[in-house]
Amino acid sequence: MSTEQTLVLVKPDGVQRGLGGTIISRLEARGLRIVAMKMLQVSRDMAMKHYGAHQGKPFFNGLVDFITSGPVIAMVLEGRSAVEMVRTTMGVTDPLKAQPGTVRGDLGVDIGRNLVHGSDSTESAAQEIGFFFSPDEILSYERDVDRWITES
Ligand code: RTP
Ligand code: MG
Repeated sequence: MSTEQTLVLVKPDGVQRGLGGTIISRLEARGLRIVAMKMLQVSRDMAMKHYGAHQGKPFFNGLVDFITSGPVIAMVLEGRSAVEMVRTTMGVTDPLKAQPGTVRGDLGVDIGRNLVHGSDSTESAAQEIGFFFSPDEILSYERDVDRWITES
């Protein structure tokens, strides 16, 4: 129940399809606070680091090709249980199996075009945030509305 930070990417398919605003809106609507955001094209070197845990898997090369194929929107989101909040809002990895109501379940169909990334643990979040942002790019602020989102 503690405040966490997590890394979110609107992947190249999300940017190309004009779904950046929709995806960001859904996450904001859950009460998550954007504390860093930028648009960039992921280099192959960065992609290998970011998806290092999947090196050697059959889909690895396609995954690196895909994530480097066009601009992404990278964000750090903050809030109570932010890692789990983002993962449940995204839906499971394969959009075909993702529940309706989730980003992937409502907007996607292909596991290789699943629109959005969210860190899978607080440990990977800390690592991934470090790949994409320097500390001075991450803001610290409060919103008046925050007391209407969590009780304490
Ligand atoms: P992501 O890291 O991109 O947020 O996705 P995830 O946690 O839901 O899934 P993960 O297991 O980390 O896999 C990373 C990406 O690899 C592709 N993938 N393809 N063909 C396959 O069996 C397969 N499995 C994974 C997906 O594009 C997934 O987002
Ligand atoms: Mg993952």
